[in-house]
Amino acid sequence: MRQAEVSGKRVLVRADLNVPLEDGRIADDTRIRASLATLRHLLEQEAGSVSVCSHLGRPKGPDPAYSMEPVAARLRELVPDERLEVLENTRFDLGETKNDPETARRLAEGKDLFVQDAFGSCHRAHASTVGVAELLPAYAGLLLEQELEMLGRLLGDVERPFVLVAGGAKVEDKLGVLVNLGRQADAVLVGGKMAEELRDENALPYEAVLPTDVVAASSFSENADTRVVPYDDLLEGWLGLDIGPETRERFAREISLAQTVFWNGPMGVFEWPRFAEGTKAVAQAVASVDGFTVVGGGDSVRALQELELAERITWVSTGGGAALEFLEGKGLPGVAAIPEQ
Ligand code: 3PG
Repeated sequence: MRQAEVSGKRVLVRADLNVPLEDGRIADDTRIRASLATLRHLLEQEAGSVSVCSHLGRPKGPDPAYSMEPVAARLRELVPDERLEVLENTRFDLGETKNDPETARRLAEGKDLFVQDAFGSCHRAHASTVGVAELLPAYAGLLLEQELEMLGRLLGDVERPFVLVAGGAKVEDKLGVLVNLGRQADAVLVGGKMAEELRDENALPYEAVLPTDVVAASSFSENADTRVVPYDDLLEGWLGLDIGPETRERFAREISLAQTVFWNGPMGVFEWPRFAEGTKAVAQAVASVDGFTVVGGGDSVRALQELELAERITWVSTGGGAALEFLEGKGLPGVAAIPEQ
């Protein structure tokens, strides 16, 4: 993007402004702030106009609950420049997710060039990520460039020990990364519901380190009765909602010895304080590593923000699914659509 001649040009930027909303308010503006470097650069380089587009949530056509207005208001606060406009949710147009040429044409209309900065959406071949890039001269934005560089480092020769920490609900979402990146790691620590799935059937070509104890709850409820038990000693009908103290210590020790760490996914139901200790212990251990640390995925990033530890991580990725697909070794259609400069 730095090579593009933008002075006086009408620029279309695809950003990933898909932020969590609670009661119509922005619950976390990390993605909005991450888009600022590119927008400010374009304005400083005297772009004639900068139109930012993004999806928000998964609406099936126009739906006021997913209007971009709260996002636009926040952006206007951060970048008070009348050349900047925020277009309405790209997914209000049903052609968006089908990469419909007509939708892409409408987006490109009246624009001189396209900047792709939505790393978090680059695994989607949609009209605003791929279609427009075929209609306008297309460039990579500053955030996209940085994401590819930082996550790309994990795929190269990393400093060892390299520890991969994974959690969350479903193995199938993360299997590709666990196989591809996990093979390169010196230790793979798995918590969350995923650990139970792996225990039932190890779908990995190596042995991951699984929890030895869990915080068991009598039901799936914030106020359930709890007790710490060995993983194989769960009472009938009880659920493991966090990793136990012995596992926390084991995971924290492994992480503290690492020179490189990638962490994705919480260790338990961290939204409920009584089941947040495992995720907290991992977040604190990763933040104290004096090496190269990368965290990706909405929940782990949110945990870091809540604990005010994000500043102590080398790279907090704005990509959830996109980061996983990239680390899985898959090509990202939104990146492939940008010609190499
Ligand atoms: C994300 O939040 O991971 C991206 O914005 C992509 O959203 P999607 O999964 O709805 O395409």
